[in-house]
Amino acid sequence: MGKLGKTAAVTTATKPLWTARAAAKAGKTAPAWSAKAVRVLGGEDAVDVLTRQHRQIKIGFLRAALPGPPRRRNFDRLMRLLAVHEAAEEAHVHPVARRALEHGRELAARRRQEEKEAKELLVALWRTGPEGRGYLRLLNQARRAVTGHAAREEREEFAALREAVSATRLRMLGAEVKLTQAYAPTRPHRWVNNEATNKLAAPLLGPLDRARDAVRHRMAR
Ligand SMILES: [Fe+2]
Ligand SMILES: [Fe+2]
Repeated sequence: MGKLGKTAAVTTATKPLWTARAAAKAGKTAPAWSAKAVRVLGGEDAVDVLTRQHRQIKIGFLRAALPGPPRRRNFDRLMRLLAVHEAAEEAHVHPVARRALEHGRELAARRRQEEKEAKELLVALWRTGPEGRGYLRLLNQARRAVTGHAAREEREEFAALREAVSATRLRMLGAEVKLTQAYAPTRPHRWVNNEATNKLAAPLLGPLDRARDAVRHRMAR
């Protein structure tokens, strides 16, 4: 094969790989490991996982307002669900929206700002606790902020992701969401509110929060 022939062969062989990488970077297709991850973690896509959790969060706020002994347990469950839910969105879903959607940068910035404001309320709620003064007032404030934010995510971000991102890539994103939620911190942390800090917090604060949860759970028995 002549010099020109060799160059042409190399170009033909490498072009599809480059194209796949570039498309994956743009959030439109799935990287190679995704098929296996999706098989292991189930085929639910990110929008389905997160929308289901939005419904659970709404119910969780109602349960956490109920009086009596179950209030503490319901509160802990709600805080944990909110923490892992937002961690996955901030670390994986908003970055994909930012890259893949038209006006994705502004859209993701608005969602992150809402999450930052809601987190301030959740930190105050966490510190107050279900036995503290002003608990129901703070719970209600946080409920309004979180459910309004969730409705905007579904309407503006998730619907657009379904249009712009392939079904395979969304399923892979669902796997990333589930994996992240298995290790993420379980309580709100004020400074953990974007992609970088969430990725940093998962191996540091995740195990710490879970160890504290286990101790508290043991002491409560
Ligand atoms: Fe969110
Ligand atoms: Fe959400």
